[in-house]
Amino acid sequence: MLKRPNAEPASPGSARISSHQLFHPPLANGLAPLAPDVPTAMLGNLSPAQFMRRYWQKKPLLIRGALPALASPLTRDELFELADRDVVESRLITHVRNKWALEHGPFAPDELPSLKQRAWTLLVQGVDLHDERARMLLERFRFIPDARLDDLMISYATDGGGVGPHFDSYDVFLLQVHGKRLWRIGAQRDLSLKPDLPLKVLQHFEPDAEWLLEPGDMLYLPPHIAHDGIAQGECMTCSIGFRAPTAGELTAQFLYHLAEKQDANVSTERYRDPQQPAVARPAEVPAALVGKMGAILAKIRWNDGDIASFLGAYLSEPKPTVVFDPPKRPLDEIRFIRQAAKTGIRLDRKSVLLYDRRAYYLNGEENTLPGAKSWVVELADRRRLSAKRFVTLSRHPSMTARLHEWYCAGWIQVGELG
Ligand code: SIN
Ligand code: CO
Repeated sequence: MLKRPNAEPASPGSARISSHQLFHPPLANGLAPLAPDVPTAMLGNLSPAQFMRRYWQKKPLLIRGALPALASPLTRDELFELADRDVVESRLITHVRNKWALEHGPFAPDELPSLKQRAWTLLVQGVDLHDERARMLLERFRFIPDARLDDLMISYATDGGGVGPHFDSYDVFLLQVHGKRLWRIGAQRDLSLKPDLPLKVLQHFEPDAEWLLEPGDMLYLPPHIAHDGIAQGECMTCSIGFRAPTAGELTAQFLYHLAEKQDANVSTERYRDPQQPAVARPAEVPAALVGKMGAILAKIRWNDGDIASFLGAYLSEPKPTVVFDPPKRPLDEIRFIRQAAKTGIRLDRKSVLLYDRRAYYLNGEENTLPGAKSWVVELADRRRLSAKRFVTLSRHPSMTARLHEWYCAGWIQVGELG
């Protein structure tokens, strides 16, 4: 087994399908998928298509009243409970007497500073993996491909709290969900950081705009825009973050994927040196070794299919902390089908299901698409199948057996809501 190069720490091809498959009636919980060409208050009355053309990866956008009726997906106490779990990535940032400090969780309740203490922030990453309401908030951002969506982070801060002026390498939507936060942003070129700090703080922050965000307001920032958000009183902010692997990370992961798939004859071929003369300098690496290695590397070949297959598997791979929860007493296949025909099914919130023209990828595993095309594409795009759709689509012979396997693995759940 090859050792996989380390993925970057967490900070998230399309098949030809007809347009009627893309737009469905509102989801059972009232969340309708955003249609690309329909203006929405969530994007300041721009359509998703206009937002992507004018702002995405280009310039910041402040949206007042983006999601006005939305309460925080989690209460403060629920967030603190999550920060106490060791499968959850959390950080505590304090700024006392001009000194920044960073600690990594888990945090027992008595390890967090008092609520009366000023200027501390608790950041909890990947909340969508642990809470259905948080996952539902991410659903609203699926006008951007799942391949790009990373996670939902929620921050809690006491008055004066913040993480310091910094920039991110990823796009982010900063949604205020409780209390007020003053955001200052700047499109500065100088992104040098203060040395010897436990977190990234800009050396010279030059804001050129400032806004006080209230619950429901949202700020979109493309990568590398300097920003600083300071809580005015207690506040909570949701960050919807995106993934953008570096070329180095993609290359390392792709080469690993390719090496794993290489023909056994190629990868087991060993170095041979029948012409090696006796040496007086045993520590010197033989020059012929370089030539031989070059010849091995020159045999590496790949095509677009290898790239697509790598991307699907890599992008749908669960994060290292993800553990699925199989049902304790699983229904057998017949009972599962009966139940699903009454209540429908949905992908577990931790599952990632992607597809391209040839294949689909569920939680890092690739399968060919053709026979399964209609039901997999629908389940992937909607993340659920209503009872009616399940009954209609279950004409595909292999579908129910496959879904039952996924249900037993905890990758899908029976029923529309958790
Ligand atoms: C926060 O929510 O406190 C920080 C989010 C960010 O600046 O990216
Ligand atoms: Co940031």
